[in-house]
Amino acid sequence: MTPFHIPYLSGNESKYIQEVIDNGTHFSGDGLFGKRCTEFLENLTKTKALLTPSCTAALEMAALLLDVQPGDEVIMSPFTFSSTANAFELRGAKVVYCDIRPDTLNIDETLIQGLITDRTKVIVPMHYGGVGCNMSMILEIARSNGLFVVEDAAQCINSFQDGKHLGSIGDIGCISFHETKNIHCGEGGAILINNRDLLERAEVIREKGTNRSKFLRGEIPFYKKIDVGSSYLMSEINAAFLWAQLQQLNEATDQRLLVWNNYLEFFTNEFSEMEFSTGCVGHNGHIFWVIDNGLSHEKMHYALGHYQLLSNCDPNSVAYKTKNICRLSLESKNQMLVFEAFMKANTK
Ligand SMILES: Cc1ncc(COP(=O)(O)O)c(C=O)c1O
Repeated sequence: MTPFHIPYLSGNESKYIQEVIDNGTHFSGDGLFGKRCTEFLENLTKTKALLTPSCTAALEMAALLLDVQPGDEVIMSPFTFSSTANAFELRGAKVVYCDIRPDTLNIDETLIQGLITDRTKVIVPMHYGGVGCNMSMILEIARSNGLFVVEDAAQCINSFQDGKHLGSIGDIGCISFHETKNIHCGEGGAILINNRDLLERAEVIREKGTNRSKFLRGEIPFYKKIDVGSSYLMSEINAAFLWAQLQQLNEATDQRLLVWNNYLEFFTNEFSEMEFSTGCVGHNGHIFWVIDNGLSHEKMHYALGHYQLLSNCDPNSVAYKTKNICRLSLESKNQMLVFEAFMKANTK
């Protein structure tokens, strides 16, 4: 089977990792490369950023930071990755699933208000394929009900909505640099803290419950445990790899958008009766999806299944139809093969 995605390489990864080794003094988190990556992300997102070992870790940090407790309810769509739910379930919260929109497969913002109870604490919009949820309406619902918003922006590096980077709009945003993403460092992530009230505690939770970040900035003479926390820093070796990738973020995004737009044209012209990605201004071309009820063996070489729903959904729900979703390979050398496979299978 043709891989959905061949991990992006910029060519400078080994050079920067060698620099870390040659320097020989700093291999743990927030070293020179870590600081460069953080600064880059802060310029891009206009938000405070902290590198993490994964987006999963960033989501878990978010749940700790918001003091999510047993009995709290968290609203998200069932069409997301396991980590989105796990982060809150690990704190004892109940996940309440909300159906999705047929066009973007993102959470249906018009259904959220009806799911809010006096136990609801957080709304977690996941921006599928780097295409934004309706953040203005979600924020309005959250503000009028006193709820937090955590954006699962795992797939969203270099994706924008109304000029704002996805993940920088709610209280907290979580980004992934897993090798399946547009750019990566093997395993990696970042947490974006947009709500300034959460920033000081975010640093503590990330540093194993200590005030070490303040100590390293020379603000206090020693550091100690002051809260709960865990080990949520990205190592300098991963940050060196990530720096090489961030430097080519626009090139990597453009490559994907080129193939993504070719697919859009192909499906619009040849299979307009199918449901497929609609995109939006400012997305990063992370995923091109097709709902295909007649998936043939030929097409399966290039069209891979995706998330299975996190809950048993009503067959009448919009989410239910995603059981027939497939993602198309966004490698430029595969796109002609995808076109051929779809034409040959004669689903027209
Ligand atoms: C929507 C979503 N959330 C969270 C994650 C987890 O990201 P990571 O692998 O960086 O932990 C992924 C990874 O694919 C994802 O797609």
